[in-house]
Amino acid sequence: TFVVTENCIKCKYTDCVEVCPVDCFYEGPNFLVIQPDECIDCALCEPECPAEAIYSEDELPEGQEQFIEINAELSETWPNITEKQDPPEDAEQWDGQPGKLEHLER
Ligand code: SF4
Ligand code: F3S
Repeated sequence: TFVVTENCIKCKYTDCVEVCPVDCFYEGPNFLVIQPDECIDCALCEPECPAEAIYSEDELPEGQEQFIEINAELSETWPNITEKQDPPEDAEQWDGQPGKLEHLER
């Protein structure tokens, strides 16, 4: 399965949702997650993310392993999203910033 990782927080570009053939992205206030049981591992979303926040669970960068559980958990309660939206106005400033997990709104 594919996993949305920390750099999506406060960037939330949403390009990823448009390409997913099974519509398995779910939206929170400032982050998106993938529902792991619905994801068919097609890998189409990975290159679409301008923030490079999407990885296969087998290739997660060091320190991002906790996002496997975060995606599984939050996709159970957040609403589905299938259409691209405008990103937050300050998305570019947050792209690549460390320590964004503390800013995750649930
Ligand atoms: Fe959707 Fe494919 Fe990305 Fe899984 S890997 S979330 S099925 S686009
Ligand atoms: Fe997030 Fe990248 Fe999608 S920033 S919303 S995973 S395009």
